[in-house]
Amino acid sequence: MTHLFEPLALRSVTIRNRIGVSPMCQYSAENGMATDWHLVHLGARAVGGAGLIITEAAAVEARGRISREDLGIWNDAHIEPLARINAFIREHGAVPGIQLAHAGRKASTYRPWDVKRGCVPDREGGWTVVAPSPIPFSDSYSVPNELTPAQIAGIVDAFKSAAVRSQQAGFQLIEIHAAHGYLIHEFLSPLSNQRVDSYGGSFENRTRFLIKICRAVREVWSEALPLTVRLSCTDWVEGGWTIEETVELARLLKSEGVDLIDCSSGGLSAQQKIPVGAGYQIPFAERVRREANIPTAAVGLITEPTHADEIIRNGRADMVFLARAMLRDAYWAAHAAVALGHKEHAAVPPQYLRAY
Ligand SMILES: Cc1cc2nc3c(=O)[nH]c(=O)nc-3n(C[C@H](O)[C@H](O)[C@H](O)COP(=O)(O)O)c2cc1C
Repeated sequence: MTHLFEPLALRSVTIRNRIGVSPMCQYSAENGMATDWHLVHLGARAVGGAGLIITEAAAVEARGRISREDLGIWNDAHIEPLARINAFIREHGAVPGIQLAHAGRKASTYRPWDVKRGCVPDREGGWTVVAPSPIPFSDSYSVPNELTPAQIAGIVDAFKSAAVRSQQAGFQLIEIHAAHGYLIHEFLSPLSNQRVDSYGGSFENRTRFLIKICRAVREVWSEALPLTVRLSCTDWVEGGWTIEETVELARLLKSEGVDLIDCSSGGLSAQQKIPVGAGYQIPFAERVRREANIPTAAVGLITEPTHADEIIRNGRADMVFLARAMLRDAYWAAHAAVALGHKEHAAVPPQYLRAY
């Protein structure tokens, strides 16, 4: 029976176990450049035994940053510091992945620990945000500019260029961020997309932007390397994006060369009502995997090794991604290996072996 510490092959890449570090903004970049914080933060989790380490949302253009301190990959200068981090991650047996993102109408915000909330005004270095339709996320966010078809094509190109740079930086996996109410999700959901052109209205039109991005990325991203997509499987709002649409989209994405769907939810609407609880998003990963016949990652309040192992053993998902549990314990994977009686899989570096 497949378990948490069994390797997973996606195209030519073998991930040493089923544990992924979920993308997490660190608000510690300078002009989009990764810093020593990123080296230590991501590097520690590779040393800690996780199989896949995905960077935080990396903006494909400057106005696509959630905050001024976000990671970026819109410029060739961003490549070198990321390459250094990736070399370290690979040296320690983990697979480095990058989350390519555009924050759309939720861009230009303060860091979570700043006293002020919501959108940063121009006078403080904020910028004009863009979206499929001129509908703000909430009252504390600015009204976005509606993107023209030419501007949409420009953003598709920005994802493509970001994929080229990702390969140059030595990433072995790309995750397209199409969740949490950011730009791609804003196109998917009828609540935020009220366009009347070929990007709005029908399911086919609302998914067009993401499909174009995946095609553009696949054109330049090596055939040997996996491409994954993070989706919000539901908006948790009446009249919003649904799990049924997610399954249909996952089938399409599979035919476009996407290798895994990372199943998250929510983030699009301030009206969302989420029944948060341990593993509350796992049923989405399970359903997409079964009905679209594509590998999935389960994420969201997975904290216990036995729970993570059960998810894999029962075929509910192919990987588990952990975020906050990984912030609390960079060695979560090594500790889980010991707890589950797989000490041989703890991947402890020789420098630390005497502690195990
Ligand atoms: C500090 C922090 C930053 C996050 N940044 C991102 C991000 O950049 N991209 C993303 O898709 N999700 C992001 N998330 C969401 C996580 O990847 C994850 O989906 C969520 O926290 C649920 O998993 P958990 O219960 O294991 O924390 C972030 C979460 C946290 C706690």
